[in-house]
Amino acid sequence: EENRRESLMIVSAFAAKFFHESLLDTDEGQSIGLSYFKERGFTTETIKKFELGYSPDQWEAFSSKALKEGYLEEFLTDSGLSVKRENGSLYDRYRGRVMFPIHSFTGRVIAFGGRTLKSDKNVPKYVNSPESEIYHKSNVLYGLYFAKKAIRDEDNCYLVEGYADVISVHQAGIENVVASSGTSLTVEQIRLIGRLTKNVTILYDGDAAGIKAALRGLDLILEEGLNVKVVLFPDGHDPDSYVRLVGTAGFKKHIDDHKKDFILFKTDLLLKEAGNDPIKKSEVIRDIVESIAKIPDSIKASVFIKECSNLLQIDERALLSELNKMRQAKA
Ligand code: CTP
Ligand code: MN
Ligand code: MN
Ligand code: MN
Ligand code: MN
Repeated sequence: EENRRESLMIVSAFAAKFFHESLLDTDEGQSIGLSYFKERGFTTETIKKFELGYSPDQWEAFSSKALKEGYLEEFLTDSGLSVKRENGSLYDRYRGRVMFPIHSFTGRVIAFGGRTLKSDKNVPKYVNSPESEIYHKSNVLYGLYFAKKAIRDEDNCYLVEGYADVISVHQAGIENVVASSGTSLTVEQIRLIGRLTKNVTILYDGDAAGIKAALRGLDLILEEGLNVKVVLFPDGHDPDSYVRLVGTAGFKKHIDDHKKDFILFKTDLLLKEAGNDPIKKSEVIRDIVESIAKIPDSIKASVFIKECSNLLQIDERALLSELNKMRQAKA
């Protein structure tokens, strides 16, 4: 109930402070965590704003401190900060990782992502908080608390994949940016954005996984009536690495030069894959019309039909009749 949720948020705030102080005020944190963040180009101001931290490379540094300060075991384990051993004692979930606290819409810490500093492939790159009464992954967008004002002011939301993408792009002065944190986008996340703006620009990683992810969540965004544009980055780059490479102006120029409306982006991509195979091409056409059928605004939909009829080299009336069939099937 409400008391339990409040207790979980209080222990999460304590943990964020513990990790943040470990980063800034301990020798281990400074030499390992802080130097890592500085190498990534994060300024002290940014580190403080996002409350970044470091978890000491020990089994019980956090858990024993928290117990000593009177935090109850129940909340330490339910928040996922501590894990219970078979003998009943607690150990720390996050050890020797740089820490990204995840904030709620109102700015309270509700979860963490911890990044390893090792390049060992057997170690998971990120360890994240489990689901809890205060953290439902599918309802949260990383960075939204810091972005919401800018999203309203700019009437646009940039959607990226990762924690570091949000932080670097924000630090570059582009503050209307949030991350889906690697998972495919959910309806709840889209509705969170939709309360602030109807315009979303997807900036996903320029690798195959990023492009696939960009295609996946997107029909959902169309159904919610949002306008979706897509920008890809050169292979091997993500928004974080790219903005650091080219700076704020270069980053904005890349977006302006390469942003494509989602439907046209998808049409282009699928057409390239289909090549000259007529059967594959007809599947592409159906797939595209299916996406267009999800757009609630019928005027907007008919504009896309026109543009896609050019790209697909298919008679506009044929596409329209296919669209109407799908709409009727849905109704
Ligand atoms: N992610 C995760 N667990 C993993 C890998 C990724 O939760 N094992 C999530 C994280 O939220 C991460 C996002 O997916 O930020 C994007 O993944 P990726 O592109 O691999 O990482 P980056 O954010 O680019 O991280 P970095 O730049 O630090 O390598
Ligand atoms: Mn809940
Ligand atoms: Mn990626
Ligand atoms: Mn990255
Ligand atoms: Mn990435």
